[in-house]
Amino acid sequence: MNKMQQLQDKIAEAKKGGGEHRIASQHKKGKLTARERLEILLDEDSFEEIGMMVTHRSTDFGMEKEQYLGDGVVTGYGKINGRLVYVFSQDFTVFGGSLSETHAEKICKVMDLAMENGAPLIGLNDSGGARIQEGVVSLGGYADIFYRNTRASGVIPQLSAIMGPCAGGAVYSPAITDFILMVENTSYMFVTGPNVVKTVTHEEVSSEELGGADTHASKSGVTHFACANELECINDMKKLLSYMPQNCEEDAPSYAYTPGDEIRHRLNHLIPENPNTPYDMKEVISEICDAESFLEVHKDYAENIVVGFARIAGRSIGVVANQPAALAGVLDINSSKKGARFVRFCDAFNIPLLVLVDVPGFLPGTDQEWNGIISNGAKLLYAFSEATVPKITVITRKAYGGAYDVMNSKHIGADLNFAFPNSEIAVMGSKGAVEIIFKKEIDAAENPQAKLDEKVAEYTDKFANPYGAAARGFIDEVVIPAQIRRKLIRGFEMLKHKVVSMPRKKHGNIPL
Ligand code: HXC
Repeated sequence: MNKMQQLQDKIAEAKKGGGEHRIASQHKKGKLTARERLEILLDEDSFEEIGMMVTHRSTDFGMEKEQYLGDGVVTGYGKINGRLVYVFSQDFTVFGGSLSETHAEKICKVMDLAMENGAPLIGLNDSGGARIQEGVVSLGGYADIFYRNTRASGVIPQLSAIMGPCAGGAVYSPAITDFILMVENTSYMFVTGPNVVKTVTHEEVSSEELGGADTHASKSGVTHFACANELECINDMKKLLSYMPQNCEEDAPSYAYTPGDEIRHRLNHLIPENPNTPYDMKEVISEICDAESFLEVHKDYAENIVVGFARIAGRSIGVVANQPAALAGVLDINSSKKGARFVRFCDAFNIPLLVLVDVPGFLPGTDQEWNGIISNGAKLLYAFSEATVPKITVITRKAYGGAYDVMNSKHIGADLNFAFPNSEIAVMGSKGAVEIIFKKEIDAAENPQAKLDEKVAEYTDKFANPYGAAARGFIDEVVIPAQIRRKLIRGFEMLKHKVVSMPRKKHGNIPL
């Protein structure tokens, strides 16, 4: 046979994956194939495939007769908006995308290349889990991947899209990566599926309810994005990547920016004076940051804190902000975990932090205490304290109690701390404070309500403002809201070359 023709035939065979009928069945489920997904993800004509001719080595259960070139995963490298990335895309049409020894080896090979060459790793997951015919070598293959995910953590960005099943121990590779994106209705993740759940706990639950995109986006927080379809998922992934550097030694790419007067008058009216009136912190973020630049992460989980990427004067920043429109912006277990993980990602990848504070404190109650608000709240405190990237805080209204310390205060290493003129920095709200310290006086008064009001006014006048903190240098400047964007542009520019060395250690011990 003509050798050239033989090669062409083999390439054509590999590109067919598990065959036309299985591709049709994939499409019928509303899913794209592994190769179609890569075509959308990567810049045109940029993909270079590695290991197209790999086949499995299994001989049990007649497997030697069933061979597919590529063995159920397409691997290689390519470009996204001109930047190098390494990719693997599981092919559900070949043994349900299940992971064999050789399938795992292919993934490990691109992971090693990504690490050695300092470029992001993107995994498109669509797999029935361990290749059942192979047994322990498949489990070993998973562990080889988990190990590499962990070694690569903090060195290169790792992004996972879940575009089909992802069950059993297979969930732990995406779980170790930095960001997970799931597709609504066609993807699910769980450690044990509905059948096992029914046997063990007698709960009746569908796959979607147990581990679908919406469940993980809102209840567990496992996924950072729930996307309406595969196209949206891939586009979100590209957008997400645009805020990140290639690796921990580099800075994120800068975008074109035309300087203006940078005054945002709307900010003077966005924040209600009454500390108990809610407002949407996302509107404040949109005014402060470059137009249309905010990409919210974990949108539907722990909505009392808002985290996401944005740009200021064309440069990437990470935003962490209390959200007065949800639970009054209180810090609780989930919001602390959400904030902490995001802060650590930004710090690992040289993305400066902007922290917007309007927080009444930590959420009280047995539920929070028994489930560990102490160690979980400490995660956020630890993450901010540990972060050495440029860190700027703006107190937009209240900063009460321990939450003042936690939310990137000067004391835990913030570089610049601003406060708006109406902000209140105090141990607690005036009414609560007065009820404690003037209890006897109020009880003994002829008109207790009038006494309470008088004391609240006195306390508010004395403590519910930013000037006590500013007098001590805990606040560097009290700023008119309309001018804050200009201050931030200059502040981040000034901090561009910040260098901080940490005490010598193997690694810290964040209260996990
Ligand atoms: C080998 C598999 C497979 C697997 C699916 N297939 N899963 N082959 N190993 N794990 C094959 C099927 O035989 C079928 O082959 C094709 O893939 C498509 O599967 P279908 O069942 O027809 O598809 P669908 O109805 O969409 O169901 C998808 C599915 C189901 C829900 C994923 O296939 C399934 O439950 N698979 C088994 C899942 C599982 O138990 N995996 C092991 C989990 S333990 P044909 O030839 O008909 O096209 C695990 C441990 C990991 O993963 C531990 C890591 C530490």
